[in-house]
Amino acid sequence: MTAAPSLIPDSGRCKRLKAASSRDHDSVDQLVMAARPFESRERYGRFLQVQHRFHGSLLALYQDERLNLQLPGLLALSRFAAVEADLRDLGLPLPSPVQPVCASPAQALGWLYCSEGSNLGAAFLFKHTQRLGLAGDLGARHLAPHPDGRALHWREFVARLDGLLLDEREEAQVVAGAIAAFDSYRGHLREVFTDG
Ligand code: HEM
Repeated sequence: MTAAPSLIPDSGRCKRLKAASSRDHDSVDQLVMAARPFESRERYGRFLQVQHRFHGSLLALYQDERLNLQLPGLLALSRFAAVEADLRDLGLPLPSPVQPVCASPAQALGWLYCSEGSNLGAAFLFKHTQRLGLAGDLGARHLAPHPDGRALHWREFVARLDGLLLDEREEAQVVAGAIAAFDSYRGHLREVFTDG
């Protein structure tokens, strides 16, 4: 008799995602800093365009009914509206909407892991925006911590993602989704900051 594929929550899922994407994370981190997004408001405006593309492409996932059942409260986590408010604060036009990401439900979980995890590094970016005279209610809303704190939000998200029942094929898709998300972020960065 063939054993049914095991469907179990995996308390190590996010840890494995972190390990599988750490090189991608480091290269994105280096590219962001090399783009000098906090050197001037003009450059920060370009960084907002990158964020607008990335978070805009994920909006449909944050709004997805099935994903909201798997990860309750997901909809409220999207930072897209805050990115738009930041652009308006700086008097910049809203870029045209980007193509939504095309991902299977399991890949979508990897994309969301990448997007939610980026809130941790945002603490560091948020500090830099202060040099530009920006704050959580002016131009840097999407980088500001949640009133309950970044760590609590992240721990809750990790617990939910780790708690999902996935089979082996889906597990591999989650990893592929996270890697694709970092790839896409790199692509947006390169396009927006292409002329230095
Ligand atoms: C200069 C830019 C960035 C810096 C300095 C930075 C820094 C950090 C730091 C310090 C952490 C916390 C690591 C830990 O507590 O173990 C982190 C986590 C993370 N960052 Fe970044 N980050 C940057 C950009 C990004 C971007 C653009 C993305 C996504 C597109 C991203 C995705 C993540 C993810 C997914 C995690 C969670 C890792 C985990 O614990 O599973 N980061 N980042």
